[in-house]
Amino acid sequence: MYVNTKDILEKASKEFYAVPAFNINNLEFLIAILEGAVEKNAPVIIETSEGAIKYAGNGDPIRGAKFFVNLVKGYADTLNIPVALHLDHGKNIEYIAAAIKAGYSSVMIDASHEPFEENLKITKEVVKWAHAAGVSVEAELGQLAGIEDNVSAEENVLVDPEQAKIFVEETGVDFLAPAIGTSHGAFKFKGEAKLDFERLEKVKKLTNIPLVLHGASSVPVKYVELAEKYGADLGGAKGVPAEEIKKCVKLGINKVNTDTDLRIAFLAGLRKNLTENVKEFDPRKYFKEGMQFVKDVVMDRLEFLGAAGKA
Ligand code: G3H
Ligand code: 13P
Ligand code: NA
Ligand code: ZN
Repeated sequence: MYVNTKDILEKASKEFYAVPAFNINNLEFLIAILEGAVEKNAPVIIETSEGAIKYAGNGDPIRGAKFFVNLVKGYADTLNIPVALHLDHGKNIEYIAAAIKAGYSSVMIDASHEPFEENLKITKEVVKWAHAAGVSVEAELGQLAGIEDNVSAEENVLVDPEQAKIFVEETGVDFLAPAIGTSHGAFKFKGEAKLDFERLEKVKKLTNIPLVLHGASSVPVKYVELAEKYGADLGGAKGVPAEEIKKCVKLGINKVNTDTDLRIAFLAGLRKNLTENVKEFDPRKYFKEGMQFVKDVVMDRLEFLGAAGKA
């Protein structure tokens, strides 16, 4: 069933587990993710970036947002697991409005690049419109540049826990993404992963709402190597190990944003399949292995985040 993201995340927060939010741009990833969630009897969040909506709508945010709502809601309503659809990193008002109007379960307003007061003001406005439509809201504090080259990020780039408390109280936001040292994409750390667990713990204590970890892909070596075996060049790829993410879940993370892992798993399967079956030209066949790898990543995440069996 198609549900409000808040229903999924408040249960997760109460019961100390996390639900993965997977980015999609197309039908194949959606099918693989939902099949995985059904098999694990787990709640799941599907998310689309502004770029995904632009892609699906051929440049028109209203058409793109409607497309995803019809696709995800239509599919979810045939299933016995809770499924939510979320706008990831909403930065432009036209995309946020399009998502709310189309019937998304939740939207993210990402004004984290703005000064604190401005972020607070913008977030508060979005919360007002979204809540009036029964849509829940995620916001972000601090920046995801995180820790690069093994040098600690400037203090002010990561979330300030005292500011987080004020921000949550004043905006009425439903979920908060605190920057604690992760970054987006396949190249997160040069050496070991370095996350600021103490900061995360403080944010949870001071806000007591569901928290979101962005840039949470683990970049599994298995799929990187397979993709490279079939011609990809992903040299230096590195993610957040599952054990580190599990620590974050213990400290209050309830939504774990994952895009890169699915992209790499699909790429590995697609490259392998195309290379091994040079006569094949039916997409349902040459996408199949990529979809299976996406489903495997999904099921693994549902399991280690504690969402399996929580539908
Ligand atoms: O956080 C960003 C997500 O991975 C989506 O990225 O803008 O390439 O769709 P995208
Ligand atoms: P990854 O690039 O680590 O998958 O992060 C995705 C994300 O945070 C989407 O908002
Ligand atoms: Na998000
Ligand atoms: Zn993100």
